[in-house]
Amino acid sequence: MPSASAARPEPTGAGPRGVPRHVACVMDGNGRWAQQRSLPRTYGHRAAETTVIDVIEAARSVGVGWLSLFAFSTENWRRPDTEVAFLMHLVRRVVRKHAPLLHARGIRCRFLGMTDPRIPPELGRDIDDLMTLTAQNRGMTLTVAFDHGGRRDIVESARSLIRAGVPAETVTEEMFAVHLPMADTPDVDLVIRTSGEQRISNFMLWQVAYAEWLFPPVLWPDFRAPDFLHCLHTYRQRERRFGAVPTDENGHPRS
Ligand code: IPE
Ligand code: IPE
Ligand code: MG
Repeated sequence: MPSASAARPEPTGAGPRGVPRHVACVMDGNGRWAQQRSLPRTYGHRAAETTVIDVIEAARSVGVGWLSLFAFSTENWRRPDTEVAFLMHLVRRVVRKHAPLLHARGIRCRFLGMTDPRIPPELGRDIDDLMTLTAQNRGMTLTVAFDHGGRRDIVESARSLIRAGVPAETVTEEMFAVHLPMADTPDVDLVIRTSGEQRISNFMLWQVAYAEWLFPPVLWPDFRAPDFLHCLHTYRQRERRFGAVPTDENGHPRS
């Protein structure tokens, strides 16, 4: 039963007022960035590294407790073998290169997904090393969604409930959430998808149920800390109702 991880105290609080607790980025537009420069798509992926570090630093510095980055989807295996191989190699290089910095910043790193046997074992080992190194950190939780699919996670939760012998009639949403992979991850407050595409693309389907969404047109390799901070500013102006009616500062319905 995965419930033990859900019961564990969360490593960070809600963060400063007005700052979303959990921000997730769909890092999109690398291929177009390269194509605009008449370069192979892989150059766009390589250029994305700078943005990743910039966004991690920006999120941490303003007190975001949970940052999730969508790096590779279960559907991305459909890309040409050479591009997939490049991405596997790039992620390994980035993990090895930035492990000391991430650890020094007190960031807890986790990878969500990672079940496909096509993932190179040496990459799996380096990722395990990074997760072990940073497991006790409490500064910010960085979740890299890699070989991730929201539907697969939902199926995994259903399997886990069945394995645990939970009677069908007793299954609740809370219980379902507890059986998801990385069940201690809070719901996403804000999703930023760069490059102007307006799709979920099978990303954290359960966790984004009530997220606010922003679709900046800028391509991921051009996205920088000020763009990220601008997104947080826009988020603050959103009114989150969760199905209820608008309320005043005391939580009473506004007339
Ligand atoms: C996002 O950029 C990176 C991954 C999906 C791995 P894309 O490679 O999807 O870039 P575009 O959408 O083709 O521009
Ligand atoms: C979503 O982007 C996956 C990642 C950013 C890792 P895609 O570029 O793969 O999504 P689609 O194909 O446009 O939906
Ligand atoms: Mg894309």
